[in-house]
Amino acid sequence: MKDKVIWITGASSGIGEALVYAYNSSGAKIIISSRNRDELLRVKGNCKDQMNVQVLPLDLGDTAALNNKAREAEKVFGHIDLLINSGGISQRSLALETALNVEQKIMTVNFWGTVALSKAVLPGMIAYGGGRIVCISSLTGKFGTPYRSGYAASKHALHGYFDSLRSEVFDKNIQITLICPGYIKTNISLNAVTADGTTHNKMDENQENGLSSANCAKKIIKAIQQNKEEVYMGGKEMKGILFKRFFPLWFSKYMRTINLKIQKTKH
Ligand SMILES: NC(=O)c1ccc[n+]([C@@H]2O[C@H](COP(=O)([O-])OP(=O)(O)OC[C@H]3O[C@@H](n4cnc5c(N)ncnc54)[C@H](OP(=O)(O)O)[C@@H]3O)[C@@H](O)[C@H]2O)c1
Repeated sequence: MKDKVIWITGASSGIGEALVYAYNSSGAKIIISSRNRDELLRVKGNCKDQMNVQVLPLDLGDTAALNNKAREAEKVFGHIDLLINSGGISQRSLALETALNVEQKIMTVNFWGTVALSKAVLPGMIAYGGGRIVCISSLTGKFGTPYRSGYAASKHALHGYFDSLRSEVFDKNIQITLICPGYIKTNISLNAVTADGTTHNKMDENQENGLSSANCAKKIIKAIQQNKEEVYMGGKEMKGILFKRFFPLWFSKYMRTINLKIQKTKH
């Protein structure tokens, strides 16, 4: 990726941050985005080659502003070769108890923010001769699990949208890669929203014992190099993909037991 221009959202933490460090050591030019400018500056400060890292704060929830952000990003290094949509929020709450506006916020940030940014960079990529858009979806983008209804919806929506888009832009030399991580050890559960929109603020056991963000970044980079359309990564939770596909009824019953288990630990 030497001298390629990469724009990474969610770059202030977790998977996005790990991708910044990995690509920085391969000589890429990187634009790093999220809401928190100070955290982005911290990430930049940790990079070996800081000259090739530029900070561009943005809020994925403010979809109307994202077109202008894309114009700003294009000006930084002249164009964009690769957009990695890693910015996102998770959920820890029952659908029945969750305020609609909380689910709408998850959908706006994870789905509409990603779509708006991707649409905003596509014309520039096409004019430049091609490019790639990567979305960090989730295993929850392939099957729904309890306490994640809004989150699962936002990640499933990415698959519908970007699978369709892939078929429309392949002849313009645009590649689309959907990454589906399982449990990755990041702050995702701390930052997840609860029923009333406040943050969960707890490191979940599954995340605590998950794949490291550096390992996850390595697998994402490999998937991009191999021009994959969709990849899964994580631990034994990846088996869910096979169970959902080949034993859907059994899988559905298993999810009920997971729900009961969560409810028991909650009360
Ligand atoms: N960790 C996992 O187990 C796991 C599993 C499957 C999928 N994923 C997905 O991986 C992606 C990265 O998550 P992570 O695990 O790295 O979690 P994380 O450590 O919480 O990082 C989330 C990133 O998204 C940014 N972000 C959140 N809301 C934003 C907004 N409104 N506008 C712009 N940026 C925003 C955050 O930065 P600011 O707060 O500075 O805005 C942060 O940089 C997410 O899409 C997540 O759904 C994670």
